[in-house]
Amino acid sequence: MGEPKRIGILTSGGDCAGLNAVIRAVVNRAVREYDWEVLGIKSATIGLLNRPPLAIPLKLHDADSLLTQGGTILGTTNKGDPFAFPMSDGTIKDRSEEIIAGYHQLGLDALIGIGGDGSLAILRRLAQQGNIKLIGIPKTIDNDVGHTELSIGFSTAVDIATEALDRLHFTAASHDRVMVLEVMGRDAGHIALRAGVAGGAHVILIPEIPYHLEKVCQKIRDRQDAGLHFSIIVVSEAVCTAEGDTLQKLQQFGECRLGGIGQYVADSISKCTGAETRVTVLGHIQRGGRPSAMDRILASAFGIAAVDLIAHGKEDLMVAWRDSQVINIPIAEAIKDYRTVNSQDTLVKTARGLGICLGD
Ligand code: F6P
Repeated sequence: MGEPKRIGILTSGGDCAGLNAVIRAVVNRAVREYDWEVLGIKSATIGLLNRPPLAIPLKLHDADSLLTQGGTILGTTNKGDPFAFPMSDGTIKDRSEEIIAGYHQLGLDALIGIGGDGSLAILRRLAQQGNIKLIGIPKTIDNDVGHTELSIGFSTAVDIATEALDRLHFTAASHDRVMVLEVMGRDAGHIALRAGVAGGAHVILIPEIPYHLEKVCQKIRDRQDAGLHFSIIVVSEAVCTAEGDTLQKLQQFGECRLGGIGQYVADSISKCTGAETRVTVLGHIQRGGRPSAMDRILASAFGIAAVDLIAHGKEDLMVAWRDSQVINIPIAEAIKDYRTVNSQDTLVKTARGLGICLGD
């Protein structure tokens, strides 16, 4: 269809499972259906700062083994905002024009950007400023991109957190302990809620539902009174302390890293109930490794749809998942409407129905 094209693809923001499966789908569709060239841009927009820009041709045989590979063969970064780039001398510089020039040096007709809300916002700004035909694909284990029920990486992260909870059950029961699992989710509790329901947690704490420590302790005591001396708690890293403080483990390169709420909850519970507690921080295990079947399916469907949008002359759109169909929406809408857990969410009701304590 139409003129032969050369398209670029990049992965931006934190990695997650399923990124390589997207690359595989894009290469397959672009080459098989349209006979286009595909260039993989290295390390997100950082690759476009290099001269010459860092990009590799992606052929069918390069895509062959990508379906099950974790991470991203293109590399990525969640640092270095092009509009406020931290320079080695400590200054901050707007490097957007350099990135746009790098893009045009590659002779690209369109760009597929795979990213979360932050990355998609940056890519869209670059696209508007630099006349780049951009199609976005949502990815983030946090599942907080607006207007899509699923983003790449979320399903795998939930599976991993669920498996962790399954494993914690047995050791918790053997030792009569309260096990606390801290999971990721920078501002949204989707992973904790979903894995908590799937993994049979007794308490689920998410940032969207303010909790009272006393309610959590009462749940543990009720179980103890019923002869159940172990409990499983899953807490999202973004949950605050009872005093409303966000716990950040360390600051590096000006970035904030969440961490520590699991220990805080465990310590508080052992103080008020006398229970023996242990904490597991699941961390980047949720992001690495083989994608789940759902993430492979999503990645494949998104990759094909993104290429087809370019073929139809579309731009400034993001592919999204709704009712088991791929749809597309303006990128501007997706990044405007941040997706947190709604208190009326079916899973919130399900958790309550199961007698799971949400802390409120
Ligand atoms: O946004 C994805 C995410 O995995 C968050 O859940 C987490 O808080 C953060 O990234 C961790 O970032 P980093 O890889 O920089 O430690």
